[in-house]
Amino acid sequence: MITPILLCGGSGTRLWPLSRKSYPKQFAPLVGTETLFQASARRVTGEGFAPPRVLTHVDFRFIVTEQLAAIGIAPAAVLLEPEGRNTAPAIAAAALELAESDPDGLMLVTPSDHAIPDQTAFRSAVTAGIEAARDGCLVTFGVRPDRAETGYGYLELSGQPGAIDAPGPQPVAGFVEKPDPTRAADMLRGGTHLWNAGIFLFSVATILAAFERHAPAILDAARSAIAQGRPDLGFFRLDSDAWGAAESISIDYAIMERADAIVAVPFAGAWSDLGSWNAVWRDGAQDTDGVVTSGPATALDCTDTLLRSEEERLELVGIGLKDVVAIAMPDAVLVADAGRTQEVRMALDVLKAKG
Ligand code: GDD
Ligand code: MG
Repeated sequence: MITPILLCGGSGTRLWPLSRKSYPKQFAPLVGTETLFQASARRVTGEGFAPPRVLTHVDFRFIVTEQLAAIGIAPAAVLLEPEGRNTAPAIAAAALELAESDPDGLMLVTPSDHAIPDQTAFRSAVTAGIEAARDGCLVTFGVRPDRAETGYGYLELSGQPGAIDAPGPQPVAGFVEKPDPTRAADMLRGGTHLWNAGIFLFSVATILAAFERHAPAILDAARSAIAQGRPDLGFFRLDSDAWGAAESISIDYAIMERADAIVAVPFAGAWSDLGSWNAVWRDGAQDTDGVVTSGPATALDCTDTLLRSEEERLELVGIGLKDVVAIAMPDAVLVADAGRTQEVRMALDVLKAKG
């Protein structure tokens, strides 16, 4: 049995104004009718999977339980982080907690903000990684890059040319998290790198040993946060002081860039990290002019444009637009150049400064 670990504590700031501090994008139906979190939970439910364990921010605890209950999934545990310290401390806490009941078990760490439409391809990729995970590898899942994306991690395969299309696990020679544009372009050209899909499979013992070696202070902080934490109405609250002492860093920088014995299973199915409005447009249901609309939105003579109204009575109309993203919410409207939607995060800083 594989235990899924659902990470859903991120704030998804680049998808403002749909994604809010109190209700981030993973809990919204960004594509389709289910929320990204629900789709992620469903993806790791069924044969071969134990009930999931969830790591989230304390503020999202009821959203998590309501959204899981709505699709008939009962989590084995929901660990509450008093503050977001990024994915490394969350994964350390998950491993320590799981070690209490299943020290030799395998855990599949999965983000909750991705679109992976092909369940069969996903399952076969996970299955292809099981043996390597049992053998002590950190198993990653790689996606063939089609642009010099700087928002992802890259896995350098050390196998034969063509390894990026192989069906099974490939040795990884290097892991580069969020490269600069020049390096990303080099890696795209080289043909030996895959994007890191952000999904990891490893045994509890392997990841604990990797933390012990590369980030022991994070493991200590997570251990204390559990020891001093407390159960609360079916949740488990990690201790605030201990948790606050953990370095805020992602698993990619804390472990993956430093570890050996990483393998990558090339993933052939469609995959998208719906990290920005540009990604939502790119992976949306485009018409022949590259226009994606959602809600009461109408595009006249537009090309390569995303128009999305989240309010039933708010008509959004675009005329003659090209490369534009417009998102209308009841209390805020975003209109942006489609190539600059990564900057939404900066816009929020400006709004915050305005008070
Ligand atoms: N529980 C918890 N606590 N979850 C968190 C936290 C936290 O403090 N911070 C982020 N998460 C969750 C997010 O909700 C998301 O589901 C997942 O962890 C990944 O975090 P992101 O912030 O979305 O990471 P990223 O997209 O910048 O980068 C990662 O994913 C890329 C692919 O999508 C990296 O793994 C990259 O290497 C990878 O390419
Ligand atoms: Mg992400």
